[in-house]
Amino acid sequence: MTISPLMPVYPRTAFRPVRGEHCHLIGEDGRRYLDFAAGIAVNLLGHSHQGLISAIQQQAATLMHVSNLYGSPHQESVAKRLVEVTFADTVFFTNSGAEAVECAIKTARAYHQHIGNLDKYELITFKEAFHGRTMGTISASNQEKMHKGFLPILPGFKYVDFGDLEAVKAAIGPNTGGIMIEPIQGEGGIKVPSDEFLQALRALCDEHDLMLIFDEVQCGVARTGTFYAYEQFGVVPDILATAKGIGGGFPLGACLASEKAARGMVAGTHGSTYGGNPLAMSAANAVLDAVANEEFMAHVRDMGAKLTSRLEQFIGNYPDLFELVRGRGLMLGLKMKVEPRPFVAHLRDNHQLLCVSAGDKTMRILPPLVIDESHIDEFMEKLSAAAASYQPEEVA
Ligand SMILES: Cc1ncc(COP(=O)(O)O)c(C=O)c1O
Repeated sequence: MTISPLMPVYPRTAFRPVRGEHCHLIGEDGRRYLDFAAGIAVNLLGHSHQGLISAIQQQAATLMHVSNLYGSPHQESVAKRLVEVTFADTVFFTNSGAEAVECAIKTARAYHQHIGNLDKYELITFKEAFHGRTMGTISASNQEKMHKGFLPILPGFKYVDFGDLEAVKAAIGPNTGGIMIEPIQGEGGIKVPSDEFLQALRALCDEHDLMLIFDEVQCGVARTGTFYAYEQFGVVPDILATAKGIGGGFPLGACLASEKAARGMVAGTHGSTYGGNPLAMSAANAVLDAVANEEFMAHVRDMGAKLTSRLEQFIGNYPDLFELVRGRGLMLGLKMKVEPRPFVAHLRDNHQLLCVSAGDKTMRILPPLVIDESHIDEFMEKLSAAAASYQPEEVA
């Protein structure tokens, strides 16, 4: 037998983290890495955050799992907090981002089917989007590398260029039920659309009675300096998928919806064995305690502005390597002139700095939101040393 016991779907690195300390990860060999990947925008409180640990430990000792057949004070309290800080009137808890997006897709379809619009099942989505790895969520993306080997994909999605309003208008037809977009495209390369574009999507949805779905799995939960990114664009969605940061490292996602959008999601239409279990809810409460306040958001904006300005000053020294910096808050992308993947490997293996590559030749910089200026200094030192020693051909 040649297959490993661990299904080999990830090209895993030789670096094997076994412990986390605030903004650093420690490998099996004892080496310390500065973690500006944060589990791909998950560990917003860093590693080993005392409030998060205590909340989970206490809950684990009290009640770990109960069925969703029973009343849930834990879910009710987190749902109420999310409703208070967002556009939403109601929340369904999941265990991951893909499940949150699945619930968002189902909510949009159910909205129409509930009122007899049986034909309005199609969603307009955007090229190079990433919504997850389930059959539904890979079908929502045009990325053929995710479809390969899993055909046929599910019908019901029409892809248009990110930011192309005319293409969206042209794609609206008798089967269109909604538009689904990442307000800031993450995996696609930290692409920020204009305010006008997202506002125009809202107007189109209002005009045609379509559901506007925001996938904030990556850009949500204070990452961009507001609790959700949509707040910065002056646009409110009907449905929003959230995950990653919301559990601070504990697996948790949620689908948020307005009362109108959720009208088809009645008893018996959807479910999850684990979704919203008391352990996940204790993690969510600890995360919300830490981040859902203006002081924390201001910290993210401040660190984001400082890191952006340091990066902008720096990239001019290496015009052959770096093109520009983009993003919001602490969701930053460094667009490169060379392939980012080998550079990310060079940062990790030779400079103990963790970042993540993305589409459009972009390297993602997604630190824990609790960084301070010393972490920015350490990041810039490592990045400068890495750029100075980088020889693209050799490392690639
Ligand atoms: C925007 C977006 N949506 C959905 C997902 C899927 O989340 P998960 O991997 O938790 O299923 C991701 C994950 O990277 C994402 O970035």
